[in-house]
Amino acid sequence: MTEATGKNPYTRLLEKAFAEAIPLNAQIELTYRCNHLCSFCYNSPTGAKEMTTPQIFEALRKISEIGVLYLTLTGGEPLCHKDFFAIAQEARRLGMALRIYSNGYLMAEPSVARKIADLNPIEVEISLHGSRPEVHEALTKIKGSFEKTIRGIRNLRELGVKVELKCPITRLNQADVFEIRDLADSLGCHLVFDAVITPKDDGNLDPLSLRPDDEFLRKYWAEWYMDLHHGTLPPRSNHCASDAAEAVCGSGRSGFTLDPYGNIFPCVALRRKAANILEIDSMEEVWRRSPVLVEVRDLAVQARRKLDQHENGPYFTFCMGVAEKQVGGPLDMYPQAEVNARAVRRAYDLIQVGGGSPRKTS
Ligand SMILES: C[S@@+](CC[C@H](N)C(=O)[O-])C[C@H]1O[C@@H](n2cnc3c(N)ncnc32)[C@H](O)[C@@H]1O
Ligand code: SF4
Repeated sequence: MTEATGKNPYTRLLEKAFAEAIPLNAQIELTYRCNHLCSFCYNSPTGAKEMTTPQIFEALRKISEIGVLYLTLTGGEPLCHKDFFAIAQEARRLGMALRIYSNGYLMAEPSVARKIADLNPIEVEISLHGSRPEVHEALTKIKGSFEKTIRGIRNLRELGVKVELKCPITRLNQADVFEIRDLADSLGCHLVFDAVITPKDDGNLDPLSLRPDDEFLRKYWAEWYMDLHHGTLPPRSNHCASDAAEAVCGSGRSGFTLDPYGNIFPCVALRRKAANILEIDSMEEVWRRSPVLVEVRDLAVQARRKLDQHENGPYFTFCMGVAEKQVGGPLDMYPQAEVNARAVRRAYDLIQVGGGSPRKTS
């Protein structure tokens, strides 16, 4: 049922949780182990000892006690954790809905795909970097990974699992985006491109050398976006921000992220440690009173206000984590955000004057 506001009860629940900073989402990087070697990967293992499985169970208990509904298991490659299935089952037993981020490689094995389906996840998000082995494997650096990932996707689809494909756009696959979209369509999967390559979590800027060039970004956000996304307009806010929200994003507000060492961060991108989950009695106290989380929530409001002053303000997707790592401060402007906002504005201008989104021809 939808009330006079035009919003359904679920949307209103999300908006209320966002406004009151009630964490409905959590993400755990189970391990930094991985069977791929993506050179753009933002993970920055420190060499510290990762949580043991009993410690992860303790973390899950604390996460569920604070009322988290949606748990994302990621990494590294979460399936490279030796106890992945026991951990995922425990999360389900605690009543949390599961989302899994994976490169899909190990799901090529039918018995693994079957076990994933048995978890009844709301979604599995799989990274696809190219429409052909040469392109995909130029990024994963693992020969044979394209075929395995595609087989993994097919296995899950045959078992009725909802699969979303994700493609970070880099210089190495930017010429392949239409073919990647066509491949996703043929697999029956929704595809999300990510046109922002971020620095590593420790601030190392090496991944940026792979970012797509500005000319590509201008075309991607303006002329090509709607064609690539089946008529959908480019986003004008962060995916984790609530509609018309005061804050630019849900960092430390709609959820939080744990790294494999148990450190709690406001989100996957903003790596400011709030506490370690193994050293606290309950999440509630940390969530309400951690100076880091309180400050980040306030910064997200300041960021929204700052963007509202910008000439392209309504067209920004702005990540405080990328800003902090790339240019030093969470409210500082980073070049990709400006290029993207200008191009998104152009997309909306093109629509107003009747321009379309012509398909790339060369
Ligand atoms: C760190 S991975 C973990 C899950 C899994 N191993 C995978 O690759 O899908 C999570 C997502 O971040 C993307 N990613 C990794 N490094 C990135 C970067 N520097 N910038 C943007 N996206 C990145 C990956 O492609 C993947 O979609
Ligand atoms: S598969 Fe995921 S975790 Fe592994 S290197 Fe690639 S992006 Fe990083």
